[in-house]
Amino acid sequence: MCGIVGYIGNNDTKEVLLDGLEKLEYRGYDSAGIATLNADGLHLSKVKGRIATLREKVNNSVQSTMGIGHTRWATHGAPSEENAHPHQSASGRFTIVHNGVIENFYEIRDEVLSGISLKSETDTEIVVQLIEVLNNKYNNVAEAFRQTIALLKGSYAIALIDAQDQDTIYVAKNKSPLLVGLGDGFNLVASDAMATLKQTDRYLEIHDKEIVIVNRDYVEIQKLDGIAVEREPFTAEIDATDIEKGTYPHFMLKEIDEQPPVIRRIIQEYQDENDNIKLDPEVRQALLNTDRVYIIAAGTSYHAGLVGKQLIEKLANVPVEVHIASEFSYNMPLISEKPLFVFISQSGETADSRSVLVRIKELGHPALTITNVPGSTLSREANYTLHLHAGPEIAVASTKAYTAQIAVLAILAVDTAQAKGMNLSFDPLQELGIAASVMESLTDQKEEFEQLAKEYFQETRNAFYIGRGMDYFVVQEASLKLKEISYIQAEGFAGGELKHGTIALIEEGTPVIALSTQENVNYSIRGNVQEVAARGAKTCVISIKGLDQETDAFVLPHVHELLTPLVSVVPMQLLAYYAALHRECDVDKPRNLAKSVTVE
Ligand code: M6R
Repeated sequence: MCGIVGYIGNNDTKEVLLDGLEKLEYRGYDSAGIATLNADGLHLSKVKGRIATLREKVNNSVQSTMGIGHTRWATHGAPSEENAHPHQSASGRFTIVHNGVIENFYEIRDEVLSGISLKSETDTEIVVQLIEVLNNKYNNVAEAFRQTIALLKGSYAIALIDAQDQDTIYVAKNKSPLLVGLGDGFNLVASDAMATLKQTDRYLEIHDKEIVIVNRDYVEIQKLDGIAVEREPFTAEIDATDIEKGTYPHFMLKEIDEQPPVIRRIIQEYQDENDNIKLDPEVRQALLNTDRVYIIAAGTSYHAGLVGKQLIEKLANVPVEVHIASEFSYNMPLISEKPLFVFISQSGETADSRSVLVRIKELGHPALTITNVPGSTLSREANYTLHLHAGPEIAVASTKAYTAQIAVLAILAVDTAQAKGMNLSFDPLQELGIAASVMESLTDQKEEFEQLAKEYFQETRNAFYIGRGMDYFVVQEASLKLKEISYIQAEGFAGGELKHGTIALIEEGTPVIALSTQENVNYSIRGNVQEVAARGAKTCVISIKGLDQETDAFVLPHVHELLTPLVSVVPMQLLAYYAALHRECDVDKPRNLAKSVTVE
């Protein structure tokens, strides 16, 4: 969470910083600021709110060739101008932006900075104050920076500038993402390559606890003990047009529509010239070696993991447990003899998942990451990676990553079954192709879902989703989508569980959306629909061809029963989208959230 951009070059820096921050707003958007430096000194602009508000505040007449910027998702201290970054040291000499959480914030404040009156409530400010205190001691900024980094505990990505030096940005990271972008006569710092694609596609990775000196003409990486590090740059393979909305009103709608092509791309990427599954042989072997798969994920990725469990258990006969990352870290269950940990994460940066990865690596267990960002932390630190090939997902509400995750998990499940010599009648690549076409037909019928959203969600304060089996997993995702962008209180329940308590909440007119795509539970879920209807609920059944009834609100075309989540989630995404739109919510940037959750 929080986005950082830095620039040092020969051109004016304001636009690079503001444009970069706009690209990083998905990481947090409650306050923002930039600091630029020129011969007249440091120029600081901070606002509560979005980059658009910051743009209005920035003084356009100030020209500068270096600066740092930040867009914030609050952890320590409410969103406000005082708590917005950049933060400054007591004398104003040092200015910093930071992403992450400093865990020994109170110790440093009380033990080292007791004489200094802090201007903000943030953990960040203690870092910049500490740098000044140490610089007063050593009279050497690089040394003060190094000593500070050595003292910090927790997660951080930091960029620091010194008002007395127009040639250097000091950079370091631990657990939080940060890259250095390389240019001709300029260099950049960014939380994500997306922020600076207009300037460069060449980047240098920074490893945890390295100190990086960024100048206009060179970049120097050192270990904490001062030993220089040589590292080859890499080329970011992101198409700049992928991160534009184009003619769409919102990224979320664009990304819902991108789902069929993404599934087709996955088919291509995981298919060899004989139309068989093509998969990293080491991943295949890891699946063959394991006696139990532990899927670790958060939010939407956790919901994809629930579907993945069904696919891997039913197709490959390998036991699977699915765990919420933040719970697993603190309540580790008994682990089998030969576990394989599978981390599912769109961003590959989710701190809750990473803390599990660090822990299981200490225990010597193997890890596979399934992610949309192959160079991400979870990808780099796991033994193996499977790429989702979904293209950048910008809307906070995850859509195409969810369906891509399910598609890759289906391929993984079938590959494992085949490697085990099991004879399956299920051809995943062909079935995925059929699912992609059905998804396309659904995205072509947006008006129907817009209508349903009006009918069911226009006035309501709450809503229920019910399903059984595979549909239960999808309704959990459906309710998350609705609540996070429309702020309607929504829950997804197992249909059979309602009568054990939740049915007490049903009142006259309560919307209940039921999903029925699974033959073995079709009659049971319809029974549950009758039960809530008898108590006044306004029911809406979405079913699938072959299991449909005349009164159903929408009938999905047929797809293989194991792949129904790929298609049944599309109406759910569109219902949430239109509910939020009609309520005039900020669809792509819902309140209190951020796309990449890099704090625990
Ligand atoms: O990047 P990740 O997949 O690890 O993110 C996990 C969750 O934060 C994420 O899926 C979140 O629940 C979605 N933005 C909700 O739409």
